[in-house]
Amino acid sequence: MSICYCVFADKCLVRMRIIQAINYDDLSKKAANIMAAQVLLNPCGVLGLATGSSPIGLYKELINWCKRGELDFSGVKTINLDEYVGLAPQNDQSYRYFMKTNLFDHININQKNCYVPDGLATDGVAEGKRYDAIISDMGGVDMQLLGIGLNGHIAFNEPCEWFEKGTYRVALTQSTINANARFFATIDDVPKEAYTMGAKSIMQAKKILMIISGESKAQILYDAFFGKVTPMVPASILQFHSDVTVVADEAALSIVKAKGLC
Ligand code: F6R
Repeated sequence: MSICYCVFADKCLVRMRIIQAINYDDLSKKAANIMAAQVLLNPCGVLGLATGSSPIGLYKELINWCKRGELDFSGVKTINLDEYVGLAPQNDQSYRYFMKTNLFDHININQKNCYVPDGLATDGVAEGKRYDAIISDMGGVDMQLLGIGLNGHIAFNEPCEWFEKGTYRVALTQSTINANARFFATIDDVPKEAYTMGAKSIMQAKKILMIISGESKAQILYDAFFGKVTPMVPASILQFHSDVTVVADEAALSIVKAKGLC
């Protein structure tokens, strides 16, 4: 039986909700329920979406809801966090391709309303402005889904000396290149740059839903939500957001639990 309870991390600067899941499957179901509720409450709203391993189970759950006719995406708009520089939408390693194959092609969404940065854009500044204008024209993001990198990145905001604001072109750190090499034939194939929403764009979402799974993320979960707010741990800025829900499994919460914080 699944256990679900909320705690408020009162050692943080502001409160956040942590929903504990038993494992990845349980986490995916719980997070999907939250996102499904968001779509039911606001069927013409804007969802901010993420790629990577973490949301695959959640997307499968949403697909099942949609196929059963219980969830309608026809009025929903989506905006993705990031895209690799140099990859065309048809490239099977691009984030546009990931979203098509893991979600968009299986739900009744109008893909003209699904935005991902243009990996083939050559002018980084112009692409950043274009993407920020899309977010603003949509009226902002109602619920932003996030994963977290082993180095604390959110989207591709890598550890750095400052927080970037809007969408920008970023050089990926070696830690991220190493972590993402599992999706590519060789590590040399991993793109070295990406377009990513900045911290300000992410923080402007009305609600944040972060999913964290596995023991390898236990230390960064602790650092991000119970440590100092610093651009060296980009996810720590979420401590300043007023509506954050973290769904994490027991392995990811192991350090926080061992310290009696949850
Ligand atoms: C992906 C993204 C990244 C991932 C993060 C965790 O769009 O923005 O920040 O969320 O790298 O990736 P996984 O889920 O593969 O561990």
